Amino acid sequence: MNAPQPITVTVTGAGGQIGYAALFRIASGAMFGADQPVALRLLEIPQGVKGAEGAALELIDGAFPLLASIDISTTPDEGFAGTNVALLVGSRPRTAGMERADLLAANGAIFGPQGRAINEHAADDVRVLVVGNPANTNALIAQRNAPDVPAERFTALTRLDHNRAVGLLAERAGARVADISGVTIWGNHSTTQYPDLSHATISGRAALDVVGETWGRGAYIERVANRGAEIIEVRGGSSVASAANAAIDHVRDWALGTGEAWTSVSLPSTGAYGIPEGLIASVPAHAVDGGWRVVEGLEIDAFSRAKIDASVAELAAERDQVAAMGLIPAE
Ligand code: NAD
Ligand code: LMR
Repeated sequence: MNAPQPITVTVTGAGGQIGYAALFRIASGAMFGADQPVALRLLEIPQGVKGAEGAALELIDGAFPLLASIDISTTPDEGFAGTNVALLVGSRPRTAGMERADLLAANGAIFGPQGRAINEHAADDVRVLVVGNPANTNALIAQRNAPDVPAERFTALTRLDHNRAVGLLAERAGARVADISGVTIWGNHSTTQYPDLSHATISGRAALDVVGETWGRGAYIERVANRGAEIIEVRGGSSVASAANAAIDHVRDWALGTGEAWTSVSLPSTGAYGIPEGLIASVPAHAVDGGWRVVEGLEIDAFSRAKIDASVAELAAERDQVAAMGLIPAE
């Protein structure tokens, strides 16, 4: 039997930390399984090319049977040529004295052109995952600059928050991760996110009964939402391996399906759960036949409603800011 055609995966910021942690696992088959070859495209800015070149040398030294090719480029047009899966990791980090508006503007200058290049040069089935912060609004900018690509192909990473929420719940309950289901991250990949245990179960028991509402709707939410800062404080740098792992989980589930369990993914809203249409917000979703399907019919109580609304309001404010700056085309 002939081997399947390689899936082309573009990783932006491939010379950086998350890129380094992700590339070897993608090459080893962690993203699409043990029988699916991959072609890697590493997109960097000139200052990051040496990092990408070094990673490429080590990828060769890994002798990965599934790795069909490695290309390095510094222009989005080349970097996204024929891309089936785009991991947009490279972004402009916030530096001392930088206002949020400056951060949004700097990232608009990256994600607008990348969206346009994806629109023009990527494969027809392209799927995009934005990791670089502010991930949800960067994804919105890219999506709105790619009018010919179906909007639902643009997603942002809240799987890391989801995995953190599951991992910390398992630790608290003394349970196995495999026994937990029904956890949701709502809203933005920021400290306003809402890790929601209302529908979560641990070995079939309501999670809030197991861990108690005081913790599950108090310290737990704070811990998950501030885990990124906790990692920065303890490690002296932002999360890398867990972020790469979450990105691979996200794309693997998208491509291969989630089965019964649901996960959390930031998707362009269709208006479900009162989230304004078009905002790229985290919701509970299954992946079926290569597409995300939002879990329907969950009951949202007053506590959850207020939490979801607060995070969605932050996303709407970010959208309004980038619209005012002309970073997304007018409706
Ligand atoms: P890093 O600084 O190690 O690497 C970033 C790389 O991106 C650098 O090599 C840089 O040269 C490159 N880059 C910058 N602009 C680029 C552009 N226009 N095109 C291509 N490459 C470009 O950072 P990192 O630790 O790999 O983190 C990357 C991003 O991921 C950051 O924005 C970080 O905040 C974010 N992040 C998101 C999550 C999440 O859950 N969504 C989690 C962790 C980190
Ligand atoms: C994370 O969640 O680890 C990243 O988004 C980094 C950060 O600034 O929190």
